Amino acid sequence: LTTAATAIALTVTAGTAMAACDDGEMVIKFSHVTNTDKHPKGIAASLLQERVNEEMNGVACMEVFPNSTLYNDDKVLEAMLQGDVQLAAPSLSKFEKFTKKFRLFDLPFMFKDIRAVDAFQASDAGQSLMDSMQRRGLQGLAYWHNGMKQMSANVPLMEPGDADGLKFRVQSSDVLVAQMEALGASPQKMSFSEVYGALQQGVVDGQENTWSNIYGKKFFEVQDGITQTDHGIIDYLVVTSVDWLDSLEPEVRDQFLTILGEVTEQRNAESTQVNLDAKQAILDAGSEVRELDADQRAKWVEIMKPVWDQFKDDVGQENIDAAQAINA
Ligand code: LMR
Repeated sequence: LTTAATAIALTVTAGTAMAACDDGEMVIKFSHVTNTDKHPKGIAASLLQERVNEEMNGVACMEVFPNSTLYNDDKVLEAMLQGDVQLAAPSLSKFEKFTKKFRLFDLPFMFKDIRAVDAFQASDAGQSLMDSMQRRGLQGLAYWHNGMKQMSANVPLMEPGDADGLKFRVQSSDVLVAQMEALGASPQKMSFSEVYGALQQGVVDGQENTWSNIYGKKFFEVQDGITQTDHGIIDYLVVTSVDWLDSLEPEVRDQFLTILGEVTEQRNAESTQVNLDAKQAILDAGSEVRELDADQRAKWVEIMKPVWDQFKDDVGQENIDAAQAINA
């Protein structure tokens, strides 16, 4: 390599992997669990890192740790309260130890698409949820979108009865446990990083996730196709600790939050397309994608929607009403 080529290669490596932080720069560690390519969160996290490191050079430096290389989602919030990591973006399903209000987002068929999720989050009800964990030391900074969840198993799933008796991996959410139990299935809470192995070895038969997660972690390779149920959502809260946020100089905090806001707006506008591309990549890999007709879909709704009643008190009827008004 020529010197110039070496310099370019080094720059590219630093940009895509971990950025080297200079002495005196405040280090912002961002830990997450997904892959970085063809993934709404992975792409957004990389863009945030790039902009912080360019525009806040000399003041702050962001290091992104994707793919659960630093923490799983069940450890990251504790680590954040200890000051070991400053930023994370767990799915809204993973905050149960801190608030039960986010259970709204896990209720099956609560939101018809990500635009409805976006509109709810932008409302007063949605914005105030970001502050709901302040007493526990956590501050929500932004919602990042992934997309609608699909179901897969080691057998075809067309009717809800097809899931009866099967074992499903779920995120650590009691709503998702109840949803699988409504189907007569056995739910098992499990970290994202363990799902591929568990599907492959038959520890569980099936799972639910977005196209980008099914593609990014190759779940389609160890399942009998994917059924387009669109029955729920995966969305994220970019979160930090109240202590860390309070420790920032006002102008540093403002600059960081401005960059985060711009990255959020830019990448949230693309999340649906990223998932459509992942779906296409799954089809291109030769996996089967099954569509439901209206009757089949109605059966899934009928069996799963009663789960709402079990969690009404946790999420607040006013939040359900606000979400439904937006969905109408
Ligand atoms: C999961 O555990 O399935 C998801 O929350 C992973 C993610 O961050 O999208």
